[in-house]
Amino acid sequence: MEPELKIYNDAASVTEAFAKNLARWIKESKSPFFHIALSGGSTPKLLFKHLADNYKDAIEWSKVHFWWGDERMVPADDDESNYKMTNELLLSQINIPEGNIHRIRGEEDPPTESVRYGDEIESLVPEKETWPAFNLIILGMGDDGHTASIFPNQMELLHSLDVCEVATHPSSGQKRITLTGKVLNSAEKTAFLVTGENKADRLQEIFSDSDKGRLLPAYHIHPAGELYWFVDQSAAGELEK
Ligand code: 6PG
Repeated sequence: MEPELKIYNDAASVTEAFAKNLARWIKESKSPFFHIALSGGSTPKLLFKHLADNYKDAIEWSKVHFWWGDERMVPADDDESNYKMTNELLLSQINIPEGNIHRIRGEEDPPTESVRYGDEIESLVPEKETWPAFNLIILGMGDDGHTASIFPNQMELLHSLDVCEVATHPSSGQKRITLTGKVLNSAEKTAFLVTGENKADRLQEIFSDSDKGRLLPAYHIHPAGELYWFVDQSAAGELEK
């Protein structure tokens, strides 16, 4: 499917519009469970707070299983932990069974945890053409064009034959676990949430199909299913140029 680019005034309107779509997708889904892989970083914080404040009773959370597209290999109580951020802003605020929350154990040995998490995904997330097919994958994009924890200097993770891989943050050296390209491209729906001026050059490179764009991991997200880019005016600032 051609990517659907949705441009909103600011990060708050991106959040409101995406939350409305999310609630509708969960409601309309025919699947017994709605498996969502979450992104980390700062952009989803607004969304998680908005969902906790406005959708506590408006979404059938017992139908939702939460997974992570990537995690920093730090303990669950570390400020760098995507799980910690999500739990504080959303999971601890809604009525969701503990068994529906599938965190990446950042405190564990990365290679061992990468295999364990991949096995857990393969045991619960329905498959399509041999790859686990999440109902929805939410992705962010770094100002270097990385997505999940697939960085421009680790493009091979886009072609990995494993569900998860260990990645290394190019500047901090921090270990990460990330879903790989095949899984990121197998979801029923994939939605990028991208806000802020610092993302504008990368977005332009991706949407203009440029040589520079092809060097960016986010460019290579072309799922079999639906693809949406929810962006704000600042991030979209270079698109017309
Ligand atoms: C992470 C993310 C990562 C994030 C981008 C954008 O764990 O950091 O999953 O892929 O989405 O780095 O981060 P911001 O939203 O903070 O700009």
